[in-house]
Amino acid sequence: MPETATTHVYRHIIDYAVEDQILQELVGAQTSVLDIGTGATGRSALKARDRGAVVTSIEINVEAIFEFGDTTERQDVMLAAADLLRLPFADDCFDVVQVALHGFDYILGCTDRIRGLQEMRRVVKPGGHVVFNGFNPVGLTLAPSGYKRAMWKAQFKYLTSRRFLQPTMIDFNGLELNQAPVRVVTNQAAIAGLRRVSVRNLSGSTSDPRKVALFSKAPYYVFQRPA
Ligand SMILES: C[S@@+](CC[C@H](N)C(=O)[O-])C[C@H]1O[C@@H](n2cnc3c(N)ncnc32)[C@H](O)[C@@H]1O
Repeated sequence: MPETATTHVYRHIIDYAVEDQILQELVGAQTSVLDIGTGATGRSALKARDRGAVVTSIEINVEAIFEFGDTTERQDVMLAAADLLRLPFADDCFDVVQVALHGFDYILGCTDRIRGLQEMRRVVKPGGHVVFNGFNPVGLTLAPSGYKRAMWKAQFKYLTSRRFLQPTMIDFNGLELNQAPVRVVTNQAAIAGLRRVSVRNLSGSTSDPRKVALFSKAPYYVFQRPA
């Protein structure tokens, strides 16, 4: 697999400490959770289910739905084919809406991203939370780990192609992924009516917004729909 900005971030870690941290804070027995972009393994949906949540998951890729749908692991997780931009749910349905592992970055362009955020705001209950992570070109450029020996090829390519100046990057499947500074994501969410509660790095070791904005390659965001 060729090195790209996504392999660069995700090669070593898939289950981040920050995900568990956030689940611990927001998800418990009977919490209603919508997991968007649940994927072929259902990893993020199952994590919430294992905490006792009532989980509904949606996915746009039909092959992934079949794969996850066929597993016995899926027990108690509702699964549907749907698009984040047109959520097939009534208003005010869920306590938590989550898009794990940069799934929200498949939504490109300011207009669609705000539309996606508005959709998530619509289906979450007042006072409920919207959680996702997304690539940050500032962190992808400045994070010290990008300059470790194992990373230099991907980092070199990212910098010399001046990709950090673009609104998108290319993932290992050749797909375009959004990348945006923390300030931009926060502003888009504010336009959609969501208030930022926290922004954290992948290890969960810092939630200092300035440090995260500068050095986190793919921060995790927690937003809240005002009560
Ligand atoms: C990186 S995977 C994450 C899989 C899983 N949630 C996890 O944490 O391991 C992102 C998923 O989002 C799905 N996806 C992309 N765009 C979507 C959309 N507009 N609506 C719903 N799902 C989407 C992709 O098909 C992919 O399965």
